[in-house]
Amino acid sequence: MKWYKVPGIENSDKPFIKKVKAGNKSVCLVGYEGKIFALSAKCPHAGGDLSVGWCKDEKLICPLHRYSYDIHTGKGSTGQNDYVDVFLVEIRKDGIYVGITSFWDKIKTAFK
Ligand code: FES
Repeated sequence: MKWYKVPGIENSDKPFIKKVKAGNKSVCLVGYEGKIFALSAKCPHAGGDLSVGWCKDEKLICPLHRYSYDIHTGKGSTGQNDYVDVFLVEIRKDGIYVGITSFWDKIKTAFK
């Protein structure tokens, strides 16, 4: 796993949704009830930009057709049968970091 520092994000209790780049991934950072979550910014339904959606009841809602995804697990709501990738977030003294696992890291883990 590789950690990427994301600029322009402060750790605060203010809610926010912002799209950032972490390596080659577009990541949607969600500040919700004092915690920060990281999900893929691309909606698996039809490619909507989740970072222009909104958050309600711990779900990130896509603005295009209102599919929703759990901000903890990325799991789609009942009946959707889909998910978005979620990423680890670390709040360090010098900023916010997002952990991205590469395809090769996943392969190595699978064969351990
Ligand atoms: S593109 Fe996101 S719900 Fe359809």
